[in-house]
Amino acid sequence: MKKRFKIHLFDLLMSLSNAVDLVSPVVANHHKRVAYIAQGIGSQFGLPTAEQHQLAMAAALHDIGAFSLQERTDSLQFEMENPHRHARLGYLFLKRFDLFSNMATLIRYHHLDWADGLGAAWEGEAVPMGSHLLHLADRVDTLIDRERNILGQAREICRKIEEHAGSLFVPKLVGAFKNLAAREYFWLDATAPSIDQILSRSVRLPTIELDLDGLLSLAQLFAHIIDFKSPFTSTHSSGLAVTAGTLAEFVGFSPTECQQMRIAGYLHDLGKLAIPAEILQKPASLTEEEFALMRSHALHTRRILESISDLDTINDWASSHHERLDGQGYPFHEGDQDLSLGARIMAVSDVFTALTEERPYQETMTSHEALQVLQRLADRLALDPKMVSLLSLHFEEVDSRRKEAQDASWQEYQRIMQIWGDAKRSSP
Ligand SMILES: [Fe+2]
Ligand SMILES: [Fe+2]
Ligand SMILES: [Fe+2]
Repeated sequence: MKKRFKIHLFDLLMSLSNAVDLVSPVVANHHKRVAYIAQGIGSQFGLPTAEQHQLAMAAALHDIGAFSLQERTDSLQFEMENPHRHARLGYLFLKRFDLFSNMATLIRYHHLDWADGLGAAWEGEAVPMGSHLLHLADRVDTLIDRERNILGQAREICRKIEEHAGSLFVPKLVGAFKNLAAREYFWLDATAPSIDQILSRSVRLPTIELDLDGLLSLAQLFAHIIDFKSPFTSTHSSGLAVTAGTLAEFVGFSPTECQQMRIAGYLHDLGKLAIPAEILQKPASLTEEEFALMRSHALHTRRILESISDLDTINDWASSHHERLDGQGYPFHEGDQDLSLGARIMAVSDVFTALTEERPYQETMTSHEALQVLQRLADRLALDPKMVSLLSLHFEEVDSRRKEAQDASWQEYQRIMQIWGDAKRSSP
């Protein structure tokens, strides 16, 4: 029987939005609050339930294209410069996966002003009402001062939003917002620490089923979002996925297991959603604190994947990639007796791929030099000697497949950055 994976969309989106908002305490829970506010206004406005769902999904990830901490903090200003940069990048990524294509469009226009009706369309295409709703909900959240009691500021926020009815926001949506804003529960729930539970009651997203190929495409989408945060990492997960998948074949894993290994490869650095681009591409070595922050990504990967059922094996392989046989890895400091074969393959593949890449803090190595480093790590039992020998034995095959995958990923990176760069000045 073909393996299928049940994905609870709500859990998936919430854990991704958690990760994206871990980038700084300043933006903590921003995505969830915007999802709650948007869904509330949508329901008050009479938006059909299916559209409310799309809206909540879009809200949960709407700033995913803001890669740097700077851009995330800028987007908290009520009036920000270049607001469309991150909106467009998020759109370009998400539209490539069928399930996300509607929400991608909502995200694309989430900073478009209503401009007395001009914002109803952009370059001849209708702009969905959901985008304008997301814009409004997002701006409401930026006006909330989280240091102060929420009910004490509700009137000021309403006044500020009303001032911009017609210019920034659709007047009818402002009307729906005002109705909602008159009720205390709305403000208290929107800012409650238990926003997860509150959202799970108001937003009921379906469960989807994906087969291995569907899950692989989803994993590739996330690999691009993670890797494309910096040119230095732009091909990393693609190279690792192919390296690990090829080694798994040589170890004798079944075709299903090899495919799971590739998926784990694409997802292994998912936790880097929580790491700002400034650190990922810092041109000097990291400070102790920055390095500690960087290391936290491995645990974030584990926690994000835990929230999706059926992914235990993939999660084990993906999130153990920095563990070492001698217990000197992280985050669990597991050792020889704990680490599965898949985790060992992943660790070897990760080091091998990383060493051959250009990084801001290291000289690029040839594949053969990288192999020598792996051998030294195997000699002191950090990496699994058997897996390093296997890589060495099939070196030409593994290395050429890795290069091919990384070349393809580099082309894709250039393509997306080109489309984005051409449009980033003023358009969504
Ligand atoms: Fe935004
Ligand atoms: Fe936002
Ligand atoms: Fe990593």
